[in-house]
Amino acid sequence: MYTEKVMDHFAHPRNMGEVEGANGVGMVGNAKCGDIMQMFLKVNDDGIIEDVGFKTFGCGAAVATSSMATELIKGKSIDEALQLTNSAVVEALEGLPPAKLHCSVLAEEAVRAAIDNYYARKEGRAEECNTVTTSHEEERPAD
Ligand code: FES
Repeated sequence: MYTEKVMDHFAHPRNMGEVEGANGVGMVGNAKCGDIMQMFLKVNDDGIIEDVGFKTFGCGAAVATSSMATELIKGKSIDEALQLTNSAVVEALEGLPPAKLHCSVLAEEAVRAAIDNYYARKEGRAEECNTVTTSHEEERPAD
């Protein structure tokens, strides 16, 4: 049912936990399943994501997709991270069962929420590290 990659990222999540000195933090939740994901970014002056971490209160696929999402954006520019799609996360995990695709959407949204928060802080629109977005998105297939 789950690929070895999914099981590996679930059993050994990469970049789990908060990041000290994070300057972009976003939290998203899926209203349907109740799972919550929080993403922490430390972006340097050149706009490169130096460090990234996550905290996920949710299913195994949510843990695996957050873990993979952090790996895919670490060391990348903000612009590159904005291109991250749930399909790319699913592909990197070598697939997810259809019923679990929404977990990958949550990972994509968590990255975007953290980037939004990074820009909001830069522009002085937000001091605190919390952008809370509730996803009402239905499950959607990977492209
Ligand atoms: Fe909702 Fe996985 S069951 S994020």
